[in-house]
Amino acid sequence: MLERLVLRPFSLKDARRVQLLAGDESIASGAINLPYPYTDGVAESWINNHENEFMNGNSVILAITLKENSILIGSIGIYINKKHNHAELGYWIGKDYWGNHYCSEAVQGMLKHAFEHLKLNKVFAYFLHRNQASGKVLINNGFVKEGYLKQHVKYNEKYEDIECYSLLKTDFN
Ligand SMILES: CC(C)(COP(=O)(O)OP(=O)(O)OC[C@H]1O[C@@H](n2cnc3c(N)ncnc32)[C@H](O)[C@@H]1OP(=O)(O)O)[C@@H](O)C(=O)NCCC(=O)NCCS
Repeated sequence: MLERLVLRPFSLKDARRVQLLAGDESIASGAINLPYPYTDGVAESWINNHENEFMNGNSVILAITLKENSILIGSIGIYINKKHNHAELGYWIGKDYWGNHYCSEAVQGMLKHAFEHLKLNKVFAYFLHRNQASGKVLINNGFVKEGYLKQHVKYNEKYEDIECYSLLKTDFN
């Protein structure tokens, strides 16, 4: 149980709020794989996919909500590779809610699920080198640096470096 947050599945009722929060340019410019602009219908088809992918054991994508008033403030997900028993972690938090350690707390909740319930062996995450806030979220949760990938992704016609951090089940407490 998290202190200030509840992680729950998305429902179609969340689509407009997802579009509002994730559609902010500040989110797209920090995340590696979010669409921008976040056009009508994108949130609906994204949410519609979640249940199938969850039932097939491919991913767990959850809404990050505030315990005190149930407001949706972000998203967190793991994308599972069953063969290797590992998962890639991804997340975003609406801009108005940055800097409150909400993402660090949400990651804590997702890791508990990944390691204790799903018994994954490893969780890893990529982030843009210039997005050190994302790196700090991972460090806060015990992740360690595994690699630095030069000019690995392309943003607005510019190649950018990314970093990879990971946490093994044996190092999760
Ligand atoms: C990255 C993101 C999820 C962080 O959310 P958050 O709830 O503000 O994160 P937290 O408050 O838990 O932790 C942020 C940490 O980064 C630090 N930080 C903030 N800006 C920073 C910067 N420019 N450089 C270094 N550290 C920074 C904060 O001080 C905090 O560290 P602390 O625990 O030592 O105080 C949020 O900024 C976001 O959604 N960004 C856009 C999408 C994105 O980048 N997603 C991740 C893609 S991999």
